[in-house]
Amino acid sequence: MAQPTIKSIAVMCSGGDSPGMNSAVRSVVRTTIGLGLEAYGIYHGYAGLLEGNIQKLSLASVSNIIQRGGTVLDTSRCLEFHNPEIRQEAAHILARKHIDALVVIGGNGSFAGAYALHQEHQIPVIGIPGTIDNDINGTEYTIGFNTAVQTAVNAVDNIRDTASAHARTFLIEVMGRTASSIALEVAVCTGAEYVVLSNQEVNYAQMVSDIQRGCARGKLSSIIIVAEGEKSGLSYQIKDTLKSAYDIDVHVCILGHIQRGGRPTAQDRLIASNMGHAAVQALLAGYPAHVTAFNQGAVQIIPLADCLTKRQESPEAQIALIRALAI
Ligand code: F6P
Repeated sequence: MAQPTIKSIAVMCSGGDSPGMNSAVRSVVRTTIGLGLEAYGIYHGYAGLLEGNIQKLSLASVSNIIQRGGTVLDTSRCLEFHNPEIRQEAAHILARKHIDALVVIGGNGSFAGAYALHQEHQIPVIGIPGTIDNDINGTEYTIGFNTAVQTAVNAVDNIRDTASAHARTFLIEVMGRTASSIALEVAVCTGAEYVVLSNQEVNYAQMVSDIQRGCARGKLSSIIIVAEGEKSGLSYQIKDTLKSAYDIDVHVCILGHIQRGGRPTAQDRLIASNMGHAAVQALLAGYPAHVTAFNQGAVQIIPLADCLTKRQESPEAQIALIRALAI
């Protein structure tokens, strides 16, 4: 593979933040400087790149951040970056700042921007998968998922206490946009009675029969985990239908952004640290537009072009487990 002369690497976060992004930033910066290169941080995602909001970073710039949620580089969702003229401006800014290569930590949308920048302006780019949704094609894991699931599990455990005390049914809505990964894992780990997946017709007959079966054998509470889908609030529609069509009263709790914050778990720090290190090594090895994927327990370098779409979900086994254990 051709060896580009890379003397400086910039790292940025883009899209929704996720716990563990800071661990990845630290790893990229420390690896870059450790190899004798210059490290830069782009602040506020692609929007910040367009403003030239770029700082040279030192070893100390990333001290004491491995354990912090959010991102010290800040982030943004930048719709402008869909425009090729805007990307050209971004490429000029990178050239003016003498930045030779880019590491982008984010999800599909962020990767699409990085890929276009590479295709149009030949800038070497590596994507690090960072989103709580765990929905990127080509990688089994994205940084932040484990922390988000743990945060949601803790919250559901708390709700289970009060649900049991009052013999109530709760609909608890978790994040994930069009992906159901968080919902499925949280449902298994909290012993939920039912899970509603993203973008699927709600099977009310099945849901009601599962709730009633539990009540009949003396269960004191029922927990239904709802994947939010395109936008949050689906749980309130389900609540209304359960009342009007089945005369069942339920309570709703939408967990929301609490799932995005907080200290990253050890797993997220570990994978982020490995990915950040691998990203810099991949750039220096001449990989032009790739992603640090995590598959079968190890970091792999795979083409960015394979990671621009959402991963197809196959939830059948987890649904079967949830139903088998909720009897
Ligand atoms: O993609 C991460 C995510 O947290 C989704 O789970 C959620 O639907 C979305 O971002 C919320 O985005 P925002 O913070 O921009 O409202």
